[in-house]
Amino acid sequence: MTETDTLTDARAAARLKWLAMEIAMHDAAYHGADAPTISDAEYDALRRENLALEEAFPHLIQPNSPEKRVGAGVSDAFAKVVHRLPMLSLGNAFSGEDVTEFDDRVRRFLSLEAEAPLAYTAEPKIDGLALSLRYEKGALVEAATRGDGQTGENVTVNARTIADIPETLVGDDVPDVFEVRGEVYMSHADFAALNERAETEGGKVFANPRNAAAGSLRQLDSKITASRPLRFFAYGWGDVSVVPGETQEAVLKTIHRWGLTINPAMTLCEGPQALIAYHARIEAQRATLGYDIDGVVYKVDRLDYQRRLGTVSRAPRWAVAHKFPAEVATTVLDDIEIQVGRTGSLTPVAKLRPVTVGGVVVSNATLHNEDYIAGIGGDGQPIRDGVDLRVGDTVQVRRAGDVIPQVIAVDLDKRPDDAAVFEFPDTCPQCHSVAERVEGEARRRCVGGMVCPAQAVEALRHWVSRDAADIEGLGIKQVEAFWQDGWVREIADIYTLEAKHGEALRVREGWGEKSAANLFAAIDARRSLSFARFLYGLGIRHVGRTTAAMLGRAYGDWASFEAGMTAVAAGDEGARETLLGIDGVGGVLVETLASVFGEATTLDRLARLREHVTVEDAEAVAGGGVFSGRTVVFTGTLERTSRAEAKAKAESLGAKVAGSVSAKTDYVIAGAAAGSKLKKAETLGVTVLSEDDWVRMASEG
Ligand code: IVH
Repeated sequence: MTETDTLTDARAAARLKWLAMEIAMHDAAYHGADAPTISDAEYDALRRENLALEEAFPHLIQPNSPEKRVGAGVSDAFAKVVHRLPMLSLGNAFSGEDVTEFDDRVRRFLSLEAEAPLAYTAEPKIDGLALSLRYEKGALVEAATRGDGQTGENVTVNARTIADIPETLVGDDVPDVFEVRGEVYMSHADFAALNERAETEGGKVFANPRNAAAGSLRQLDSKITASRPLRFFAYGWGDVSVVPGETQEAVLKTIHRWGLTINPAMTLCEGPQALIAYHARIEAQRATLGYDIDGVVYKVDRLDYQRRLGTVSRAPRWAVAHKFPAEVATTVLDDIEIQVGRTGSLTPVAKLRPVTVGGVVVSNATLHNEDYIAGIGGDGQPIRDGVDLRVGDTVQVRRAGDVIPQVIAVDLDKRPDDAAVFEFPDTCPQCHSVAERVEGEARRRCVGGMVCPAQAVEALRHWVSRDAADIEGLGIKQVEAFWQDGWVREIADIYTLEAKHGEALRVREGWGEKSAANLFAAIDARRSLSFARFLYGLGIRHVGRTTAAMLGRAYGDWASFEAGMTAVAAGDEGARETLLGIDGVGGVLVETLASVFGEATTLDRLARLREHVTVEDAEAVAGGGVFSGRTVVFTGTLERTSRAEAKAKAESLGAKVAGSVSAKTDYVIAGAAAGSKLKKAETLGVTVLSEDDWVRMASEG
């Protein structure tokens, strides 16, 4: 289809490297000196080429990729702001059923009856970008973008140019500290006018209002931001010295009284049916609202309930985004490419004739697995039972928010006569090892392991990445080169690089005394890692950052964790129950950990790595309270809270919550009608707490 198909990895890597430098240079010329040296069209062509190459060679994406410098990430151009309270994201609901389930979940957690009153605020979900505004003694002192939720960018100067954002909050009840959170966006009319002007004057044309809002807010020259018609809706708050109200609605109304804009379509709803009706009403108004929305957001109105519900995996339990159905477009499937992932799974990727779906040009879509292509189903959505996908087919593509595009339907009337059934390879396209299909799994996996370049290099790349070991100066390019030369074949080899290849590296092309010394220093700086980074860095399937941190909190130190996992792998039921008893751990994760820690080669590799890297003990979340680092078991019926809430509370205090009582149990919390576990605790001499004892001790931390 394009010339990217015929490029070798080495050529593509070299070109990507060149593009990253070239684009960075033009960015600097454009923003810094305000004197671009190439036309916008030439610049866009470079960006397009870069994007196409990154899509075709995802494993070669450069650490300084230009694509990483726009959008969600934190760029170097703005000072960083560490959010005092994280900026959360939202869980999604896509159907009325999901909304009912959300309401059920909230009620269960709070131990509320089905008929008990439970109100939600409902408001549109603005498709813009989140901004946190910090007011001290009523004066705006800092505005920060969301970034990754923990750290954002300081855009104060630019935010001050937005008419909806007041310099001072007015009211005799404005607290000393108040962070307003909300969404910056651009209206349809303003967006159209801006693009029209850009077209005639040769400025930047934006793909959609959200990009225009983001691009305008993240301008180095605040005069440019000031010339862009940005708007702001407040929808929440962050770090505050006083919460001025007892409900979501009351606080937002107060924020409104102080001078900020809140969405006029916000309303209170009782029960899931009212929420679903609200969703339908707003969807009907979608085209006439005058700004982009991608759904509606429901939030439990009572703040005491919100506090009890808390957050899980960066999203509050007390809120949900009810999305609108995704946008759909029709295009042609030009090719099916097989990518090999870090865990060896073979993923078919649809190469599509580029088409705009919901304002974004889409040229790739995931096809999940071979069953999906064959029309059998599997873990992806079946296109239609029995209808397979063939190269040349006319297909429908759907994109929902920032979710990966999907092929959802085939137009059989348009199928070319010569379209052939797609034959899924049974060998790995990277290393030609057998790609086997495990019973019960829809995916094929390359069995090559570390001999497969896709897996070995990916595993190493993952290890050195920012959220794992974060080794400065050791990026994909270096890792790949060292792998090719056989210097680094597994993670442990990174740590013996200086001892084994120090001399050779100092005289290697592109390296010298100083750069080699810098690399070795960067490696030495990472010989001790937090539990979460270490575990996440191993690249185990289903173990993301949040899960790694959660397992760290539950097990405390690496030795206990590894002992627990090897016991699970060996079939120890108690160890398995302990693992399953951790909030957020499900059967799939247990199976994965059991298979990873049951494999001798993995354990050997791990042992070699541990010779060089110290794993720090995980922090008990709430410091040294009575439950910190303790193992507790809940049994019987709790009357004051639900089991889930009690468990979440215990974990937030740093306790491990286990499912069964053993000599290692520190506390058994016995509710009404406790049975065999209570007996066992008494036999073993484990401290038994009543529910009242537990509530009192938990409230003391
Ligand atoms: S509440 C406590 N309300 O959606 C949860 N978010 O998917 C914080 N968004 O990052 C979000 N309109 O940028 C909330 N009415 C609204 C929203 C809204 C848009 C965005 C926000 C957030 C993202 C989460």
